[in-house]
Amino acid sequence: MKKVGVLVSGRGSNLQALVDAARRGELGGEVAVVVSNVEGARGLDRARQAGIPAVFRDHRGKKRDAFDAEVVEILHAHHVDLVCLAGFMRLLSPVFVRAFPQRIVNIHPALLPAFPGLDAQRQAWEHGAKVTGATVHLVDEGLDSGPIVAQEAVRVLSSDTVETLAARILEAEHRLYPRAVRPLLEGRCRLDGRRVIVEGE
Ligand code: GRF
Repeated sequence: MKKVGVLVSGRGSNLQALVDAARRGELGGEVAVVVSNVEGARGLDRARQAGIPAVFRDHRGKKRDAFDAEVVEILHAHHVDLVCLAGFMRLLSPVFVRAFPQRIVNIHPALLPAFPGLDAQRQAWEHGAKVTGATVHLVDEGLDSGPIVAQEAVRVLSSDTVETLAARILEAEHRLYPRAVRPLLEGRCRLDGRRVIVEGE
């Protein structure tokens, strides 16, 4: 069984979507460990409730490399094959990225390369985009800049507020994340330049 490590800083609804998909046999593996840099993160509670090891590691007062090395050690100890960032509010250092080459993914609430960075749903709404959505991408050393694995579009309605739009994007995220992870765990993806080629797609 392939093993996924999930990194969270907050609510953990995408973590929950991954856990639920794994339970239904739709992830192509299992969530083996959850790590958070925030002690009270709801994501840690969700992990504990699901019987998954939940580890808190404080990043404060540590150099980025030192913190990342600690997290990498935890992930290795749990024999993690793929790292999923799910609302993990820290940029990864090269130490981390190189420890899991092409083996770290993130979910972003916009159609990259549009609206990278924080508050992407609001960025799209304020810009007046008519379509936005969610993106799962491989993590490199930049900000939301790695190769795209999967995307789901969400229409922006004239009646939308940032909140109603963000809620529909979140629903798309929960469908998209497990769907994107599965071919990665099943070894059905390869890179051609920065294009992620998914077998049978
Ligand atoms: C999601 O919108 C995700 O796209 C972004 O952070 C948010 C995390 O939400 N990277 P949750 O913690 O998974 O509920």
